[in-house]
Amino acid sequence: MLTYPCDMSAFPATRLRRLRRTDGLRSLVRETRLDLDDFVQPLFVGSTTVRNEELPGMSRLSVDDVLAEADELAGFGVRALLLFGVPEAEEKDEEGSSAWEEDGIVQRALRALRAERPELVLATDVCLCEYTSHGHCGVLLRDGPHGVEVQNDETLDLLARTAVSHVEAGADAIAPSDMMDGRVGAIREVLPDIPIVAYAAKYASAFYGPFRDVAESAPAEGDRRGYQMDPANVREALRECELDLAEGADVLMVKPALPYLDVLRAVRDRFECPVAAYNVSGEYAMVKAAAARGHLDERQAALESLTAIKRAGADLVFSYWTKDLARWL
Ligand code: PBG
Repeated sequence: MLTYPCDMSAFPATRLRRLRRTDGLRSLVRETRLDLDDFVQPLFVGSTTVRNEELPGMSRLSVDDVLAEADELAGFGVRALLLFGVPEAEEKDEEGSSAWEEDGIVQRALRALRAERPELVLATDVCLCEYTSHGHCGVLLRDGPHGVEVQNDETLDLLARTAVSHVEAGADAIAPSDMMDGRVGAIREVLPDIPIVAYAAKYASAFYGPFRDVAESAPAEGDRRGYQMDPANVREALRECELDLAEGADVLMVKPALPYLDVLRAVRDRFECPVAAYNVSGEYAMVKAAAARGHLDERQAALESLTAIKRAGADLVFSYWTKDLARWL
């Protein structure tokens, strides 16, 4: 006796719980999987090691300790790193000149890593904020009509020089994160053969807080809203992506990841190139803090977060959980 309309696509003929009954069944029909090959571990390199016990994975490591960490990561199966340099305060200046020095901190780390770990993909973040005394991502105009303002075109050449110095030291890929207009083109012109992972849709986000503590790169005055994107905009993100591709980008990145999954999906649907997401420091720190207070399980929350980022359309993911993921998988 059927008490429901006899529609084979509806309940009771259809019961979606049938495929959720066992772990084996769930696994057979799973649509999104995490694969360590898609993950990039960010590392911070400085002249000395400063361990960050609250946010392991976000410690500043000396070149020797970066080498040891890379050995360990490679042993776990991690295949790609993203390097950030943290110079000493006295090395910083108005222009951020230690960013492109031949024996700058990232360049030294690259040479050491390249020699010891030829199989690792070494990507570098290209930006000036860690290297400038004022903490902005480019050359500063101080007394403009709107106070401090970062000068776009004057910054491009410095970014291109930085990128070249990284490649000369052994970088496999360049990831410009400064958000100047035209920087992908400026780098592409001097590096025709090197993959560029463009931080294309990079938002002016509160979720970079822990990163700026570790990298000592918070702006001394003002904020980054004059060059990073307004969190309210998604169509503008697509224009950023289009421009970066036209200038020669190989991979488009959306950053942060979790609060911007809609942007990630929009970029995925519109473009055929590989799409990256940056699961940023604040996304990681929030879960760590909640786990430390017993509010949630870090492993489960991290795996769920990373799965969501993949499901939204990311081909590759930059995440501080990469090392943990290698153990969890
Ligand atoms: C440099 C840069 C930042 C991040 C990546 N590259 C900081 C910023 O833009 O202020 C943030 C990464 C993170 O929060 O994990 N411009």
